[in-house]
Order: sequence, then structure tokens, then C-alpha cells
Amino acid sequence: MSWVCGRALSLSQPCVSVLSAWRSVHRRWAQRSGGALLTTPIFYVNAGPHLGHVHSVLLADCLHRERALRRRETRLSTGTDEHGLKIQQAAEAAGKDPYQFCSQVSDQFRAVFDHTLISYTDYIRTTEEHHKRAVEAFWTVLSERGYIYKGVYEGWYSTPDESFLTESQVMHIQDQKGNLVKVSSESGHQVYWTREENYMFKLSDFRSLLLKWLESHKHAVYPEKFYQIVLQWLQEDLPDLSVSRERSRLKWGIPVPGDSQQTVYVWLDALVNYLTVAGYPEAHHSWWPAVHHVVGKDILKFHAIYWPAFLMAAGLAPPERIYVHSHWTVHGQKMSKSLGNVVDPIDCCGQYTVDGFRYFLLRQGVPDRDCDFYHEKVVQLLNAELADALGGLLNRCSAPAMNPAQDYGFFSNSCFPNKQDRFDRAVSARAVEEDYQLIEVVENLPVEVQTHYENFQIYKALEAIDTCVRLTNRFFQRHMPWKLDRNKPFEKLWLDTIMYVTMECLRMYGTLLQPVVPSIADKLLSRLGVAQNERTLKDFGFLARYHGKYCSFEGRKLGPDTGVLFHRLDPHKSQKIRGPSIIKL
Ligand code: MSP
Repeated sequence: MSWVCGRALSLSQPCVSVLSAWRSVHRRWAQRSGGALLTTPIFYVNAGPHLGHVHSVLLADCLHRERALRRRETRLSTGTDEHGLKIQQAAEAAGKDPYQFCSQVSDQFRAVFDHTLISYTDYIRTTEEHHKRAVEAFWTVLSERGYIYKGVYEGWYSTPDESFLTESQVMHIQDQKGNLVKVSSESGHQVYWTREENYMFKLSDFRSLLLKWLESHKHAVYPEKFYQIVLQWLQEDLPDLSVSRERSRLKWGIPVPGDSQQTVYVWLDALVNYLTVAGYPEAHHSWWPAVHHVVGKDILKFHAIYWPAFLMAAGLAPPERIYVHSHWTVHGQKMSKSLGNVVDPIDCCGQYTVDGFRYFLLRQGVPDRDCDFYHEKVVQLLNAELADALGGLLNRCSAPAMNPAQDYGFFSNSCFPNKQDRFDRAVSARAVEEDYQLIEVVENLPVEVQTHYENFQIYKALEAIDTCVRLTNRFFQRHMPWKLDRNKPFEKLWLDTIMYVTMECLRMYGTLLQPVVPSIADKLLSRLGVAQNERTLKDFGFLARYHGKYCSFEGRKLGPDTGVLFHRLDPHKSQKIRGPSIIKL
């Protein structure tokens, strides 16, 4: 036995050192190449996934895929937030063991993320052992550094928000029965008076440090509107925060290290998930603080005030970026189980396809204001932009009637002289001013798109691509290649040039659309004959022949025709979108 252990040890030793050597090389490389850990919020498992959850994850997925396109080292983590009073109560109500209950719903979230093509690299559950270790280590550091003390917490608690609230954060309203009740002014959820002996975190020590951090990191919270909101919060009183609950009231959670009568506050537990994924407490330096959090506006305070304060208290840097998005309403109303208007993502994928659903959410999801979801809007947008504009353009240049040779086209400089030569035009020159404008706009598109991504304005990136698709359709329309006679050499030269320019534009759109509509982009690029290793922005070489360079795409055979890029949706077939098909718990 000891021999086996000895052998196992001697075998594993080199592995450990190779691993740590690899990690340190990787760390340096990740830092040099602008590596980042992208995170989504982790989702409460008291109910199944809905449209709003998918929106949060989709934004992060899209940023992740876009970085991969630029060959930036990135990880994407998501997962489920499984402790706390509301999960404990939901499991009790379902008559289930809490862990089994959490596993069922967590699997449901994961299945929806797989279905919607979320390219996560890490899926964390807060009930996992390695997360428990990270929370215990983090708590111990906060405690040893003197930021946790025992006190009596007296105030309001909102279970749905798992949030402690001050008097100024609550208000009176009349409930349905006409009774006067106290609710959170922000979420509208009912609050209950709580008086318990708790551990408190010295949040009040961090006001000026948080302000300094924000002043020196103007892009830490994005978009600007939310940055200003956080600054505003910091002008107000910042009382110490209760970071534990009495075990007698909250059993479903991680016990406070060294005090089995107290449970760690669910938000402290949940926020530490980001460190757990980064490898805390041993290996987090590879990624921390190169972390970009995507969060909804309702959980901004937790991420932009509590979390950076916890991190500073533990001697760690705050995250590099916090990207904030707003919410989806349905027909102008907040989604709620009682209204029966909660939108099921799987149902949407069935109706609009996975890519259609992804495109709609990302094209319409403006981060700084709430957006409204309704069937007619989805149909109209997808038909106009994916079916007619993009699909139509591909069809125009690849359909056998227009392109009997089924190739990428050939470029003729005499038909499309470059910018310098265009004023002493040869008779054969056919390109007009608008054509030069088109190629200039498309040439600048990757930089424009990247800027929008960096500003967390994915919808603007998609708008810019759609504008270019329309300009390219106009280019095609303007020159009416179907009227050119391919048996006349000059006309054929121009016809082939039109096809080449159109295909090059489409190659650009297909490449740039990969983070948003991976399947459609794949179909488009495959049809153009673009190989898998040719689908990044590195060495893209847009319109190389126009610039007098060799172009490996010129004259290339097109890939097989696998059908329409995106089928038009029938506007009259208005199906009712159902709420989430929550598994029976
Ligand atoms: N468990 C916490 C997060 C902890 S992160 C350390 C939580 N979970 S949640 O399930 O309630 O919400 C997760 C995310 O979904 C949040 O970013 C929230 O904003 C988002 N959405 C919930 N409803 C939404 C809409 N109607 N629209 C868009 N996003 C919405 O909070």
C-alpha cells in the first residue's frame, strides 16, 4: 500500500511542478495577451430559467466569443446560487431535500445554457466543496484582518432579494387585501423586521476607498449611467453590513468558520464564486483581477459596492470591469409568475431558432434602458435583418442562376481601380463613388464593432453590421449584375468583380457575426468556402486584390448549398409564448 502511495507520489510530483510551471507561463501569457475571466451572475434555483436569465448569460457569452475571435485568452463562468433562505423555503414548500431540489433546477439552467449555445468554460454551484473551502478561506482572511465583528443586527430583511435594508430603503404600500405592508422601495418585495445577533462587516470603512477606486477607474462600471448611480450611492450613508444569519433561522448555507451557530450571508457566499472559479485561495493570481462581471441592474449594489469592499478588505484588487444591463419587460409589463407572462427561452428557440432568439436579444437589448419583448417585434426584426437583408444577399450572389460557376468571383483592377488611380479612370472602370464609400465603411467595420463591444454596446455592433449588409445589397442592386452578359469579356470582368466584392463583404459579416449567431455564421462561411482556420479577424485581409495583394479566396469554389440561411417567420402565425416549462419539483 505504502509502495503504491510512494509510487503515486513520485509520479504526481513532476505533474504538479509541470502544472505550476505551466500556470505561471500561462499567467504571464494571459496578462500579456489581455486575458480575462468573464462572469455571469449565478442564478437562484428557486425557479427555472427565463428570458431575462438567458439575456445576462448571452451578453457574457457574446463578449467571450468576440474575444476568442481576436485570439484573446478568456474564460467564461456561470452557474447557480444555491444557498439562502429563499431556496430553503422553496425546497421546504416542494417537500424536497434542499440539495436534490437545487441539483434539479441547476441542471435545468445548464440545459438551457447548452441549448442556447452558451460557450461557458466553468459552471459553478455554490453547494460544491471547493466553493465552500474558498468561502471559508475568504471569511477567515476578512476576520483576521479585523473587518468582521459580532454585533446585533436590527432592521428590515427582504427574502426574495436576500437583502438587508435600511429605513430609507423601504416604504409602505397597500397589499391586495388593503393591508398596509412594508416593501423594498427598489424591488417592491415585502420586508420583515429582523433582530438577530450577527457578524457584521465594516463596510463603513470603505466609502472613501471605493470613491477613490471609482475616480481612478472611470470605466470600472459600464455604461456611464450606472457608474453615476454607484457614485450617487456612495454619497449616502454606508452602514456596516450584516454578513451572517443565525443558524436556527438559516440552515441551508455555509457555517461561519469557528461558529457553528451562524451561517454565512448568502450574498457573501455567492460573490465569492468568482474567486472560486479563479482558483482561490491558491491559484487565483493567474486571473485576478482581470475579471469582467456582467450583471443586471438589480444587483449592481452588491457588485459595485459590497464586492469591491470585501475584496479590498481581503487585500485583493476590485474587478477590472462591471458591465451592467437593464431588464426585459413583456408587452410593457414586468415578468412575473402571478401575471403568467414569464417567457420560456426554450419555447422561444423553438419558434425563432436558437440563433434567431440570440440575435433578437442582443440586437434589441440596450444596456442602459429596459427593453420590451413581444412576438410581432421579434418576427419583424428577424425577417428584415436575418432573412431578407443577410440571407437575401447571400442568395443573390450564390444562387446558381446568378453564379453558375459556383465560385467566389475574380477581381479586376481595371473595373475597380484603387482609390489613387480612380481619377484617371480607364474606360473599363465601372466602380462609382458609392462603391468606394462601401468598401471604406466595411474596411473600418472590425474596429467599429470592437469599439462597441468594448463599450458593452453589442446592439450597436449589430446595427453597424446590418447597415453594411444593406449597403452591400444596394451595391448589388445598383450594378444589376443579372443584366451583364458573361459572354462579353468586359462585362464578365465586371460581373466577376461584383461577385468578388460581395463575397468579401459577406465573409466580413459572417466572421463578425460568429459571437452572436454561431450557427448562421457557420452556414454562411461554409457556403463561401471559408475554412475553419480562416474565420478569425487576424490576417483577415479584406479585399486583398483591391489593395494589389494576393487573395486566397479569389476564384475559390463555393461550399455546398445547405439551404436558406434563415427561414422567414410567418407574421400571421402568432404563437403565444409560454412561461418556463419548470420541471415539477
Ligand atoms: N443569485 C443572484 C446573483 C448572484 S451573483 C454573485 C441573482 N440571481 S437571479 O437569478 O435573481 O438573477 C440573475 C440575473 O438575471 C441578474 O443579472 C438579473 O438582473 C437577471 N434578470 C432577472 N430578470 C431579468 C429580466 N427580466 N431581464 C433581464 N435580466 C433579468 O440575482
